[in-house]
Amino acid sequence: MEAKRSRTLRRVGILTSGGDAPGMNAAVRAAAALLSGRGVEPVGVYFGYRGLLREEIEPLTPAHVAHIIRDGGTILGSARCPEFMEPAGRQRAREILARHQIDGLIVIGGNGSLAGAAALTDPEEAGEEAISVMGVPASIDNDIGLTGLAIGVDTAMNTIVEACDKISDTASAFNRAFIVEVMGRDSGYLAMTAAVAAGADAVLFPESGRDEDEIVTSVVETIEAVLARQRRSRRALIIKAEGTRLSVDRLKALVDARMAATHGEDRPRVETRVTVLGHVVRGGRPSAFDRLLASRLTRVAVDALLAGRTREMAAWMVPMVPDAAKVVRSDSDPYCWLVELGAVLAETRRLLDGTSPLVQWRSRALDDVAPVLVL
Ligand code: F6P
Repeated sequence: MEAKRSRTLRRVGILTSGGDAPGMNAAVRAAAALLSGRGVEPVGVYFGYRGLLREEIEPLTPAHVAHIIRDGGTILGSARCPEFMEPAGRQRAREILARHQIDGLIVIGGNGSLAGAAALTDPEEAGEEAISVMGVPASIDNDIGLTGLAIGVDTAMNTIVEACDKISDTASAFNRAFIVEVMGRDSGYLAMTAAVAAGADAVLFPESGRDEDEIVTSVVETIEAVLARQRRSRRALIIKAEGTRLSVDRLKALVDARMAATHGEDRPRVETRVTVLGHVVRGGRPSAFDRLLASRLTRVAVDALLAGRTREMAAWMVPMVPDAAKVVRSDSDPYCWLVELGAVLAETRRLLDGTSPLVQWRSRALDDVAPVLVL
């Protein structure tokens, strides 16, 4: 971990990058307000690292951030930026930051955004004069290492649960089986937690490691169990994470074929339907919890930055820390921690490739409750 610096910061950039998440605006607002309050000028870097390279940089006044706490998306915009992944792109970014006299950066985003922050300030690449940087985790996927929650997860989960409640109404009216796909390219966290909260009958997620046949068998068994219920209303609700091995359309086709082959024409057939929630899950007004989480994490990040810390991420109740030395409790908030960016990125890789003990615990927990999901 880099030692604390004595440098006084005068101008700090705020940027949002990667997939937007509800609550990002609350973080931008908190950063701008807290920095101004401490006599540091906040500037907005529009459209993430791409905007940085295009010099889309403007001062952020109180008028810019007034009332944005309740808005979804991000007023700063977001973008993917392949050029920033190259050392030459990052060197140009450093020159632009120096020209704009920006000596600190608050980066609000997910894995790619935090990796960008780490590379931008890597002492080997940037030298000793690198600007100070603090990360604030924001991603609906909750796939960022060493934070219990990222900004946006709570709102996304509530959106899924609300959608599933509605789907449940119409599914019950026809005794149909619904497969609902939710975002989560590499992580099944949203699908898992939403399935429990929505009272789903089954959940499919990439971390289970099941092959196509096992997935189809588990869905068919779930639907059979629901059909066997001795009650009038028998709807099946299956939540599928986007990253699960097979597409929803293929899953529906295989399940329909398997059910038809088993039952023939003389048994009542269950109708299956598919709903892909897609980007709906990423939008909407942030929940009260996401607004609070964003405000609190950002306060921790701003305090740490102004206290001379750098190359860390503000984290919320860190679970299963692999190396305690890389994580320190925040002085500003007893629920928050500061985690070295290198440790965050290493644990994120383990979350995504399934080797993190946390992923294994989540999968085991879901396997344990699977038989009781069908009530
Ligand atoms: O932000 C992460 C995520 O929401 C993934 O769950 C999803 O696969 C991806 O973003 C979609 O990205 P895009 O908006 O670029 O299509």
